[in-house]
Amino acid sequence: MPLPASWGLEKALAEIAAIGQFRRPRLLESGQGARVTIDGRTLLNFSSNDYLGLAAHPAVGRALKAAVDTYGVGSGASHLVCGHTSAHEALEQALARLTGRSRVLLYSTGYMANLGVASGLLGRQDVLLQDKLNHASLLDAASISGAKLVRYRHGDVRHLHERLAALQPSSQRVLVSSDSVFSMDGDVPDLRMIAACTAQAGAALQLDDAHGLGVLGAKGGGACEAHALDEDAVPVLMGTFGKALGTAGAFVAGSEALIETLTQKSRTFIYTTAMPPAVAAATCRSIELLTEESWRRTHLQQLISRFKSKVAEIGLKLMPSDTAIQPLLVGDSSAAVDLSNALLARGFLVVAIRPPTVPAGEARLRITLSAAHDENDIDQLVHALAALVTQ
Ligand SMILES: Cc1ncc(COP(=O)(O)O)c(C=O)c1O
Repeated sequence: MPLPASWGLEKALAEIAAIGQFRRPRLLESGQGARVTIDGRTLLNFSSNDYLGLAAHPAVGRALKAAVDTYGVGSGASHLVCGHTSAHEALEQALARLTGRSRVLLYSTGYMANLGVASGLLGRQDVLLQDKLNHASLLDAASISGAKLVRYRHGDVRHLHERLAALQPSSQRVLVSSDSVFSMDGDVPDLRMIAACTAQAGAALQLDDAHGLGVLGAKGGGACEAHALDEDAVPVLMGTFGKALGTAGAFVAGSEALIETLTQKSRTFIYTTAMPPAVAAATCRSIELLTEESWRRTHLQQLISRFKSKVAEIGLKLMPSDTAIQPLLVGDSSAAVDLSNALLARGFLVVAIRPPTVPAGEARLRITLSAAHDENDIDQLVHALAALVTQ
């Protein structure tokens, strides 16, 4: 029996296509790296979140293979049943050291970690205060928890302060959540001010450091290390492995009481199979590499500076960002796709990001840089942008 015609799926799909927002995954014939293969063509890749070039690092791959020899492939069960191996335990401890937190809990994805924080800590009588441009997983966390969602203007600490002051005295737990590095914008709000404002109101702060972990901080400990924010200032720290760490999965870090509470109550931790132990072992190896070899962060910073100054030289304006995410705002969705396709024709993979991932009228090319790039890669991209955008 097909889906009922009354559901109107074809019509809805046609509407998505008509406004230039139809999306389809591209088929990669290679692993991640500065260069990827699509349709038999080698493309310079400026769309990945593999900021340190670890996703295809041989040492990370070797750690994964060695762990498969020990543990096999699947974890076989959830953490609380019998899926929690010594590889998972070692990763939790490595993350606690990296982030300077008391305890860590692993999740299978960052999306699940954010849902798990809200569902484990908040209920209908509670409030979740969020930056308007927070990642979809944080916003979705509000509905899964039943907490009242209140949003403040992007990066606007004064507005956050007003929102906190306007809360009903009857509100019980108030959690302020923010991306540290905004995923589609690349900017970092004033995290110390956000922490101070949150603490002053007696609320708690959750930071989603998906795009900061490994990249920010002298040791790669992320936004909290870079901005000297300890466990008291940011009691709920979330990070992911699928970006700078080059693997997959996520974690939440914080106090003993936080981790024990999530262990008992966080549904996306409890009711799902633990990540494969080999992925945990590979992630441990990534952490060793990023802490021991700081040259990747230094090199990435140099590439970011080079890209920004070369783009300024050709008279192009990027969105304000000092991180590896350097978006070029286009506006119209179809125009963003056209530009992305024109770059593709010249050998560059720079994916257009359109609504609903970004606000209406703010389609953009989300250009991301990686330590896997070299200066010549950056110069080639700038050259292509000069030919296509500033002609
Ligand atoms: C800010 C942010 N939080 C959470 C996630 C979700 O992480 P994951 O890909 O591990 O589900 C992402 C990206 O995917 C992200 O950009």
